[in-house]
Amino acid sequence: MAAIGSAVGLGNIWRFPYVAYANGGGAFIIPYLVALFTAGIPLMILEFGLGSMMGRSAPISLARIKKKYEWIGWLAIVVGFLVIVYYAVVMGWALVYFVYSLDLSWGNDTASFFTQSFLNLSSGPYELGGIRWPILGAAVLCWLAVYFCIFRGVKTVGKIVMWTVPVPMILLLVFMVRGLTLPGALEGVRYYLTPDLKALYNPQVWLAAYGQIFFSLSIGFGVMIAYASFLPKGSDIVNNAFITSLSNCGFSFLSGLAVFSVLGYLAQASNVAVDKVVASGPSLAFVTYPTAINLLPFGARVFGGLFFLLLLTLAIDSAFSLVEATVASVRDKWNITRGKANFIVCFVALIFGVIYTTRGGLFWLDIIDHFLNNFALIIAGLAECLVIGYVFGARRLRGFVNELSDFSIGRWWDICIKYVTPAILGVSLISVFIQRISRGYGGYPSWAVFIGGGGVVALALIVAWLLSNLKGKELD
Ligand code: PHE
Repeated sequence: MAAIGSAVGLGNIWRFPYVAYANGGGAFIIPYLVALFTAGIPLMILEFGLGSMMGRSAPISLARIKKKYEWIGWLAIVVGFLVIVYYAVVMGWALVYFVYSLDLSWGNDTASFFTQSFLNLSSGPYELGGIRWPILGAAVLCWLAVYFCIFRGVKTVGKIVMWTVPVPMILLLVFMVRGLTLPGALEGVRYYLTPDLKALYNPQVWLAAYGQIFFSLSIGFGVMIAYASFLPKGSDIVNNAFITSLSNCGFSFLSGLAVFSVLGYLAQASNVAVDKVVASGPSLAFVTYPTAINLLPFGARVFGGLFFLLLLTLAIDSAFSLVEATVASVRDKWNITRGKANFIVCFVALIFGVIYTTRGGLFWLDIIDHFLNNFALIIAGLAECLVIGYVFGARRLRGFVNELSDFSIGRWWDICIKYVTPAILGVSLISVFIQRISRGYGGYPSWAVFIGGGGVVALALIVAWLLSNLKGKELD
C-alpha cells in the first residue's frame, strides 16, 4: 500500500495527461507500455529485490555489494531529498487553494489570480523578491503533517496509507464521472485518445515515455529499496512489483479521462478548441481546473474543495515516502534514533524549501525539477542497473527474487537490466544534454540554467560522494 501511495502522486494527475497529449495522444500508450514493461517493472523488481535481500536502504544496500558503489545509493537519496524540498511547497499551494475553494476566492480571472495575487511572481529568476508568507505558512503545515505521518516509521505509515491510497482513488472516480457527464466532455477525451501514429517515429516521444515511467513509479530515488527493506522476510516480490506498477499506470490512465473531459467542457463553454485550454503542471491544477470549477452548473465549492483534497491526499504519501527513504538511509549509516533523524530531515528540507516560497521561486522550481529528473536521476538509475547487472549479477538477483515469488521472472529481466534500460537511459542522457547545451532551458537566462540546473546536478553528485566517504556506524 505504501509503495502504491508513493507512486501515485501529483505526477499522475498533472503530468501524465499532458505528456500523453503532447506526445501523440492515443499513440503514446504504445511507448508508455513498452517503457513500463522494459524499464518500469524490471526496475521495480530490482529495487524491491535489492531492498528485501539486504534489508537496508539504498546507500547501505549498494555498499554491501561493494563499498565503492555506496555513492550511487546516496545519489538517489540526495535527488529524492531535493525533490521533496519543492514537492512540499507545491503541497502547500494545494493547501492554500483548498481554503480558497471554500468561497471560490480566485474569482473569474484564475490565471492572474495564480501568478499575481497568489504567487506574486517576480520578473525572473534573478529577482527572488521576498518570501510569500501564506505559502511558507502552508508549507510549514504540510511539513508538520508529513512529520506526524512518519512519526514512528512503518507503524504510523502503515496506518496512514490505509486512507491516503483509497481516498484519492474514490475522489478520482467522482471527478471522472462528473467530468464525463459534462457537455463537451467527449470532445476532450477524443483529443486525449486520438492516436497520432507519426509520433512513434520521434525519439523524443520515447524518451518522454521513459521519463514519465521513472518519475511516476518513484524509481531511482531509493524509495522502493527502503520500503522493501521494511517488508517481512520472504514477502513476494514479483507480485508486489506488478501490483504497484499496474495500479499506478491504471490510475494515470483514468486521471487522463478525468482531466480531458473537463478540458473538453471548458473548451466548449468558452467556445475555443480543446488545444487552447490544455496546460501542464502548475497551471493545469491551479488555473485551468479552477476555471472549469467556476463554470460548473452546481456544487462548484464542493468540487473545488474535493479537487484540492484529491491533490493533498495524492501528494502526502509520495512526500513522506521520500522522507522515509532519506531517514532510513541516515539511520542505517549513523545508527541514530528515529526521532532525531525525522526531525533533522524534515527541518533541513523545510529550510531549503524557503527559496521556493519566494516570489521568484517558481522559476527555480521549474529549472531544478527539470535538471534533477533529466540528469541526476537518470545517472542514478543507469548506475544502479549497471552495478546490479554486471557487478552483482542480474542472474543472481533474479534467482533470489524467484525463490520468494509465486511467478518467476525469466531471462528477459536480465536483458532489460543489462542492456535495454541502460541503453535507453544513456541515449536519453546524451540527447537531453545536447539539447540543453544548444537550446538552453525554458527561455531562462543561461546563467540561471547553468547555476540552478548544472549546479544542482553537480551538488548532488558531490554530496553523494562525500556522504559515501563519511565514516558511519553501521549496524549489522
Ligand atoms: N511518483 C510520484 C508522483 O507521481 C512522485 C515521486 C517521485 C514520489 C519520487 C516519490 C519519489 O507524483
